[in-house]
Amino acid sequence: MDISGKVAIVTGGAQGIGRAVTECLLKKGARGVTIADVHEQKGQETVNEFSQQYDNERVTFMYADVTLKSQMEDVFRKTKTTFGRVDIFICNAGICNEYEWERMVDINFTSTIRNTYLAVEYMGTKNGGNGGVIIINSSTAGLTQFPVLPVYSAAKSGLVGFARSVAVRQIIDTKCSVRIGILAGYSSLFSSIGFLLDIYVYEHLTCQ
Ligand SMILES: NC(=O)c1ccc[n+]([C@@H]2O[C@H](COP(=O)([O-])OP(=O)(O)OC[C@H]3O[C@@H](n4cnc5c(N)ncnc54)[C@H](O)[C@@H]3O)[C@@H](O)[C@H]2O)c1
Repeated sequence: MDISGKVAIVTGGAQGIGRAVTECLLKKGARGVTIADVHEQKGQETVNEFSQQYDNERVTFMYADVTLKSQMEDVFRKTKTTFGRVDIFICNAGICNEYEWERMVDINFTSTIRNTYLAVEYMGTKNGGNGGVIIINSSTAGLTQFPVLPVYSAAKSGLVGFARSVAVRQIIDTKCSVRIGILAGYSSLFSSIGFLLDIYVYEHLTCQ
């Protein structure tokens, strides 16, 4: 996809993968990127840094909790007002906390579905948008069993099922010109720790 002149929204773009994706979009010539995140301080720092490195006018931060529809609607509305359009939605915000599993399902799974449909509403040609691309950030934990993170794995698996199903159905693509893709990455550090924890769990819990 040719990124030049395109406008993107990146959830969870204050740090980590979302921050890296934001930088990549700016490097490839995106006209504008809105970072939507709950980490206000990090978000502002990232925007300040990228504004100096790239162009002041091309990157902006908005405080937004992905679980709150009204705040995400605001993000789409303001991005359209500021940059004139929305072409790319990177649905990346996520947490990994089995102790707060209900909130994790809400952030990683439920909100991703709600915000994908919201993005189709704002980007789709059916409602006067230009069409575009939605990328959902899943995980390799969504493709295979992950005993130490059962709910994380379930939420990420759910995203794979969702993205595959809407992609096959092609209703969104045909009627709205919005394509949906899914990422399933992993960090080697994370998987090494996960692997060691798996061994620990098997040795200390399942064998008792
Ligand atoms: N790091 C990994 O190894 C890895 C591997 C595969 C998939 N992922 C997925 O990639 C995505 C990003 O992971 P990361 O490692 O960059 O994490 P990170 O913790 O570095 O960044 C996540 C960002 O999401 C934001 N966020 C959290 N809850 C939010 C909410 N309710 N509303 C808005 N923003 C919120 C955080 O403030 C943070 O800036 C996640 O969905 C994660 O599950 C990560």
